Amino acid sequence: MRSGTLSLQLLQVQDPNSQIVHALQTAQSLTVLTGAGVSAASGVPTFRGQEGLWKSYRPEILATPQAFAKNPKLVWEWYQWRRTKIATCKPNRSHEIISKWSHHYSKFTLITQNVDGLHEQAGTENVVHLHGSIWEVFCWNDCQLSPPRWIDKTLIYSKMPPACPYCGGLIRPGVIWFGESISSEILESATRGLICDVFLTVGTSSIVYPAASLICAAKAKGAFTAEINLEPTPVSEQVDVSMLGAAEEVLPKLDSFLVDSLL
Ligand code: OAD
Repeated sequence: MRSGTLSLQLLQVQDPNSQIVHALQTAQSLTVLTGAGVSAASGVPTFRGQEGLWKSYRPEILATPQAFAKNPKLVWEWYQWRRTKIATCKPNRSHEIISKWSHHYSKFTLITQNVDGLHEQAGTENVVHLHGSIWEVFCWNDCQLSPPRWIDKTLIYSKMPPACPYCGGLIRPGVIWFGESISSEILESATRGLICDVFLTVGTSSIVYPAASLICAAKAKGAFTAEINLEPTPVSEQVDVSMLGAAEEVLPKLDSFLVDSLL
C-alpha cells in the first residue's frame, strides 16, 4: 500500500464525515471479525510480531493433534500457563465498544479467532468462536459417556495431563489446532455473518485461513469492508477502508462519532 493512501485513510478516523463513519451510522447489520490484537491491550500475548507467542514457542510442538498425541503433558503445561495468564486479564475498550455495538445493530455477528473469552466477559451478543475456547475441554478419545465439550476453568490441574472424568482417558483443550477442521455448524454461523452492511476486521494479521478469507467474501456479497490494525495486512489493499492504529484507540474514536445515531 502507498504511504499517501495510508495517511489519507488514517485521517478518515478523525473525520466524522468519513466513509467508515457514514457506513457505520447507516448500517442495519454489522459483522466484526477479531484477532489477537484486540486482546493485546488487556495483556493477552498475540501470536505474531516482536512479542508474539510464535517467536518463543513452536506451534508444531504445542498446537497440533500430533503434538498432543506425542506429549500431552507438555501441551497441557503450555495451555495451563496461557490460562493462568488470561485469567488475570480484563476486557479493554475494544471489547467494550464491540459489545456496545452488538446490542445496537439489529443484526450483529462477532466472529472471533480469540480463545480467551474476553468478548463474552464484556457482554458481547452473538459470538462465533472460530478457533474454540481455552476454557472448554473435551475427551481426547471422544468417549461415549462425556458431552461433546464442557467448560473447565481449572488453572492448575492436580494431575497432569488431566483425565477425562467420564472415561479416565485424557481431556484436551477445546481449541482448534493447526491441521484441524472447524466444525460445519461454526462455519455456517460465520458464513451467515458475511451477509451484512458493514464487515469490520480488528487486530488480526489476516494470514490464517479460513478467517483471513472472510472479509473479501463479505465484500463480494456487497458489504462495506474495513480493517483496523497497527500495520498493513495482506487484505489492506482489498478492503474499502484500512485504518492504521491501536484498536483500543480507533474504536472509541469511531464510537464517539456514532453516539447520536446509536442512542
Ligand atoms: P496474530 O498474532 O497473527 O496477529 C495479531 C495482529 O494484531 C497483528 O497483525 C498486529 O499488527 C495486530 N495488533 C496488535 N496489537 C494491536 C492493537 N492494539 N490494535 C490493533 N491491532 C493490533 O493474531 P491472529 O490474527 O488472531 O490460531 O492470529 C490468527 C490465528 O493464528 C490465531 O487464532 C491462532 C494463531 O496461530 C490458532 O491457534 C489455530
